[in-house]
Amino acid sequence: MNEKLQTLLNTQVINEHGAALVYTQLAYEMDDLSFPGMRDWFYAQAEEERTHAQKLADHLLDRGYRVELGDIPVPSIKAATPLDAFEAAYAHEQKVSGQIREIARLADEVQDLDSRALVNWFLNEQIEEEDTVSEIIDQIKLVGNDGSGLLRIDARLGSRDN
Ligand code: FEO
Repeated sequence: MNEKLQTLLNTQVINEHGAALVYTQLAYEMDDLSFPGMRDWFYAQAEEERTHAQKLADHLLDRGYRVELGDIPVPSIKAATPLDAFEAAYAHEQKVSGQIREIARLADEVQDLDSRALVNWFLNEQIEEEDTVSEIIDQIKLVGNDGSGLLRIDARLGSRDN
């Protein structure tokens, strides 16, 4: 495999673990604000990010490369409202989408056919994740500061029916 691509894929393993920690922090914030459904939604999202990291790590390992975690950068995040939390999640997903596109561009450039299925999977996943979070943001904006509206969204997210 092209060495730069290998490095980028390894970095993405780290980034996905970083994303898991971002979601964990957001879960803590929602717990603090007493929105248990949103808390659980963020915990489930954190779990999903770990599976993303594993998917990338497995690809490298299956092709005979080692994976090194090193330091995992986590931005400091504060959310005073559910809207803050989901906007932070959206911004983070956009950042991850940019990272995945960078991998896709390099994989194309160096004609790494073996990673194509994996990279396509991640490109599609990012479209889905951004869409899911932006829908939640729209709904939160729609109810504004209406407590019962927020609690309904909280209940729905708690069942992860979205
Ligand atoms: Fe693995 Fe939410 O990006």
